[in-house]
Amino acid sequence: MATASTPQPAARALRSRRQALAAIAAVPMTAIATRALAAPGSQRSIIQTTGRNSSARQDYGAAIRPEQLDANSALGLAIRRLDLLVPEYHGQWDAVEWRRGDPWFGNYDAIVQFAEIFGQRVRGHSLLWEQMTPAWARADLAANRSWAPVRQHFQNLLGRYRNRIEEWVVVNEMIDTEDGADGLRRNTFQRAFGNGYVATALRMARGIDPHARLMINDFSLCHDNPVDERRRQRLLALVEQLKARDVPLDMVGIQGHLELAKGALPMARLRRFLRDLAATGVTIAFTEVDVLEDDRRLPLARRDARVADMVASVLDLAADPAVTSVTFWGLRDGDSWLQERAPATLAALQRRPIDPASLNRGLPFDCNMQPKPLQRTILASLPQSRFARMA
Ligand code: G3I
Repeated sequence: MATASTPQPAARALRSRRQALAAIAAVPMTAIATRALAAPGSQRSIIQTTGRNSSARQDYGAAIRPEQLDANSALGLAIRRLDLLVPEYHGQWDAVEWRRGDPWFGNYDAIVQFAEIFGQRVRGHSLLWEQMTPAWARADLAANRSWAPVRQHFQNLLGRYRNRIEEWVVVNEMIDTEDGADGLRRNTFQRAFGNGYVATALRMARGIDPHARLMINDFSLCHDNPVDERRRQRLLALVEQLKARDVPLDMVGIQGHLELAKGALPMARLRRFLRDLAATGVTIAFTEVDVLEDDRRLPLARRDARVADMVASVLDLAADPAVTSVTFWGLRDGDSWLQERAPATLAALQRRPIDPASLNRGLPFDCNMQPKPLQRTILASLPQSRFARMA
């Protein structure tokens, strides 16, 4: 069983945890934290039932990393204004249990403790995802086709964070209409257990934590092209199948990794997609919102306006009553995975000082935490969010 002393390979990770916990401990209990802690019952019970705060509004969330949780830094202050925190990487199976039977929860604990101090929610991300399945688990599942390692992994996380993490991505990125098996990705779990693995995973999660909201989450669902349309239809069919069989599915996550090169979002089509999903009884979350630019030579103001316009479309769609949150895949451009998508932005990230204009500018803040017009878009679209209330 894990011990807190089990060191991660990178000593830096431990330091980041100590930094995070030290920074949290140093922060005077703010009015918000006091209020949140004073009434956790009422706040928590409302959130548990609907995934919404009492004002029935869309929560504002972001992907974060433990080393960002310095509550006094500009980024830490921006993180404190979120309703919802999502571990960008440190909640993944391979980030917790890269050594079989020796899970290490230090980074996950730091994120959950930060959220509890400031009265924020955490989304568990993600229990099953091909890219972050440890090599030892892939080998075991391929050889033995037993659910035992998955069950232990679920018990490790769902059990540890029961009543602390109230919403989990149980299966991440399962749709593949181009090369999949009946539209499902041929991943380790599909090969070991068949397409029914999604239902089994959801039932297993519910059995371990009967109160958490369970979700599935997928990408390439937002743009106006044949692949995204096939993926929308396949995801809806999967949700309808699961709900028809009383499989415990509470939410659907629509990843919002948007690309300016793919053009304006098909708003009428997406509104219908949201309504069709809602008709099955699930609530919906826009997860992982960021924007990949297609022309970084334009004037900065024009670049930022184009990004804000595309995000405004998502925020407009998020007004659908079935949508409970909008989560950005990071807050600060310098942390965005999108910088890896182009050699020029990856190279720009290595320079010191970093020129904010040299990066992909797809998140709410630039690399120096300077806000962009996107901030005003978020404030206008999520007026009930903690972000707006603390403006
Ligand atoms: O923290 C370690 C650091 O200690 C180490 O020195 C360094 C070098 O190996 O790695 C650092 O961890 C990296 C981590 O990002 C940093 O947050 C991991 O190697 C790297 O694999 C990890 O990549 C993440 C990726 O998922 C895989 O988990 C990205 O940050 C994250 O943005 C990306 O997010 C995914 C969603 O989960 C699912 N949807 C797609 C999205 C983008 O790929």
